[in-house]
Amino acid sequence: MIRAGVINIPIASVPSNMPLYSHRMTPSRTLPTLSARRYVQPLREGGSLPAIVDTDDGLFVVKFRGAGQGAKALVAELISGMLAMALELPVPDLALVQLSETFGRSEPDPEISDILRKSHGINVALRYLDGAFNFDATAAGDLIDARLATRVVWLDALLTNPDRTARNTNMMIWERSPWLIDHGAALYAHHDWASVDTARVHSPFPLIRDHVLLTHAQDVASVDEQMAAVLTSDVVSGVLEQVPDALLADAAFQADGDTPAQARARYASYLNERLASPRAFALTASKVRAEKLSEVPLQRTARR
Ligand SMILES: Nc1ncnc2c1ncn2[C@@H]1O[C@H](COP(=O)(O)OP(=O)(O)OP(=O)(O)O)[C@@H](O)[C@H]1O
Ligand SMILES: [Mg+2]
Repeated sequence: MIRAGVINIPIASVPSNMPLYSHRMTPSRTLPTLSARRYVQPLREGGSLPAIVDTDDGLFVVKFRGAGQGAKALVAELISGMLAMALELPVPDLALVQLSETFGRSEPDPEISDILRKSHGINVALRYLDGAFNFDATAAGDLIDARLATRVVWLDALLTNPDRTARNTNMMIWERSPWLIDHGAALYAHHDWASVDTARVHSPFPLIRDHVLLTHAQDVASVDEQMAAVLTSDVVSGVLEQVPDALLADAAFQADGDTPAQARARYASYLNERLASPRAFALTASKVRAEKLSEVPLQRTARR
């Protein structure tokens, strides 16, 4: 059975007009740690070469710590996915997956065996959506209503996620409903914390212009306050507490000179400041959407 994601966030801090768990979610379950049993199949369309892996809780798509994108991409996946769940957006179950020292030893493909060898220990996974297909805005545009599109655009602008474009939508349609996947490129500030000053924290994220749902969405300003109100500092801390030390102790974080606690503190301060009003990312998404909508008739006229 596929379930929507579950995370442990403090419900008391959420406004009462914002029901959190209507999406087949169970509150107060922590991120599970599963054991990888069998490498089933690589997903070659993914740049990081994720794979379907059988675990003690069924099939998951594992994003490997030893892939080129590194541990920070896995942390972005976790933080973004859990924040999306807190906002009731549809994300497959998230889990940590433990790879034993012997896992993948008989894998014949050298590229895969190299990644597996570097990924012993903790990795990040999303439940495998069996039979899902990649969302294509032209083919499946009516499967996402405008309100949901607006909320997804807001989330991606908050997270500085450049990876939800028409070319690479990183959304799947499963049982005629959309699911958000692949947040590994989000939160890109964490690749260079040293250069993250106040201006960068409040980056308006103009890349939102390329978001596949931007012109399908309503004005982002219409959801801005309500969404930001859900992501209180308690919710953000609850999410960060679930990011395991095993990931935050990776060399990528040590290179910043950070302990896991210090790494969490950086994310907390970045996200809490970004979420403070006025939110430049929401204002910009709103403005860019209006500009794009006003361009559409011009493009049509020009083609004639
Ligand atoms: N939970 C899932 N269930 C089913 N298929 C999935 C799931 N997650 C990913 N996939 C499939 O695997 C592909 C690659 O996954 P994903 O986009 O997460 O990898 P990536 O390496 O981060 O990719 P990218 O090249 O976009 O950076 C997706 O496009 C999708 O087709
Ligand atoms: Mg992808």
